[in-house]
Amino acid sequence: MDSFIYQNPTKLIFGHDQVKNQLVDQLQNFGKKVLLVYGGGSIKRNGLYEEVTSLLNDNGFTVSELAGVEPNPRLSSVHRGVDICKNEGIDVILAVGGGSVIDCTKAIAAGAKYNGDVWDLVTKKETPKEALPFGTILTLAATGSEMNAGSVITNWETHEKYGWGSPLVFPKFSILDPKNTLSVPKDHTIYGIVDMMTHVLEQYFHAQKNTPLQERLCEAVLHTVIEAGPGLVKKLDDVEKRETILYSGTVALNGTLQMGTKGDWASHNIEHAVSAVYDIPHAGGLAILFPQWLRHHLTIGEEKLVQLATRVWGVDPTGKTNQQVAEEGIQQLEKFWTGLGAPNRLADYEIDDKQLDVIADKAMINGSFGNFNKLNKEDVLAILKASL
Ligand code: NZQ
Ligand code: ZN
Repeated sequence: MDSFIYQNPTKLIFGHDQVKNQLVDQLQNFGKKVLLVYGGGSIKRNGLYEEVTSLLNDNGFTVSELAGVEPNPRLSSVHRGVDICKNEGIDVILAVGGGSVIDCTKAIAAGAKYNGDVWDLVTKKETPKEALPFGTILTLAATGSEMNAGSVITNWETHEKYGWGSPLVFPKFSILDPKNTLSVPKDHTIYGIVDMMTHVLEQYFHAQKNTPLQERLCEAVLHTVIEAGPGLVKKLDDVEKRETILYSGTVALNGTLQMGTKGDWASHNIEHAVSAVYDIPHAGGLAILFPQWLRHHLTIGEEKLVQLATRVWGVDPTGKTNQQVAEEGIQQLEKFWTGLGAPNRLADYEIDDKQLDVIADKAMINGSFGNFNKLNKEDVLAILKASL
């Protein structure tokens, strides 16, 4: 494995009633003027908004609000948040929502301490030197954004969607109560499961040698999600399964699985390019693209694909070639995701071949990419065509 230093400064506060028990104590470490950031209204419908604002108002916080952060959060929302922080002298931001709300908050936190346009930070033209502190209350198990330093922002005017990150934008704390995820509808529950599995798989496919524990840890998370996911999708109010899936989503992308390795992340890059053009749900795109990325690596990634097929999907290799075993593993993954109700073709989102070249160019903006294997434009187009 590669040499590594691991430090994750986010205080993870997990479990029932942790908003009531912990929010005020945690938040007041950072000041009294709070910007509350949330999405399109789910927290108003499930009662969390009322709970949080009562706690803040009853404990002497001054609260400003940024509402309406979009799924695939837009630069325009980040700008609105930065303006509020600068104009009102905000001390600390509180993100209440899914990955989009948290990612938007990360960009606001860095943008509030930057003199130029925050888009410079997202496009990595400039590196953030400072950021406002922020905490999160996660409402959807999926991205891992609650315990990592990454953020994905879309500029809808130019149809660009980029991931960026900085150690300055680790949340100071994140409160995860499974009950706050009970209202997540079926489609986003499915997307969340697909997203966290893909995060694990992106990290499973790395080029480093001698990583037996890293691989077993990845497999453990996959087994756990494969066991709990289908039951949860059938019974969305199963709070124990919500708890398992919530914790899995955090472990899947808080750096634990990537110590001493470099995950591939090419599928994520292609998906971001697709959703920059078509604004589809992130993990809907991954459910379509990732199996085709695997197929594209049947030859060069055979050994890892066979390991995945046998250890995770229980494929019996007797009397089969490695290629057959690997392909069976890919089919099992597709069957699992479509069995949950995830899409499998770009056509499911009415995406045809007209913009494939535009998408491929967007994916290639920084040249060839992928750490398990470098993809060039031809590879990207092949994966996109196979996904139609
Ligand atoms: O906006 P509201 O009304 O809150 O509704 C949201 C939204 O419509 C709803 N929702 C969230 N919690 C709910 C709920 N509905 C009912 N009850 C609840 N408790 O779910 C919808 C989707 O929310 P969103 O935050 O967009 O989903 P997700 O967490 O999957 O985030 C997706 C974004 O994260 C980025 C993606 O690219 C995408 O922009 N990613 C961020 C990563 C990171 N920071 O590390 C990594 C990921 O790979 C990903 O790229
Ligand atoms: Zn993802």
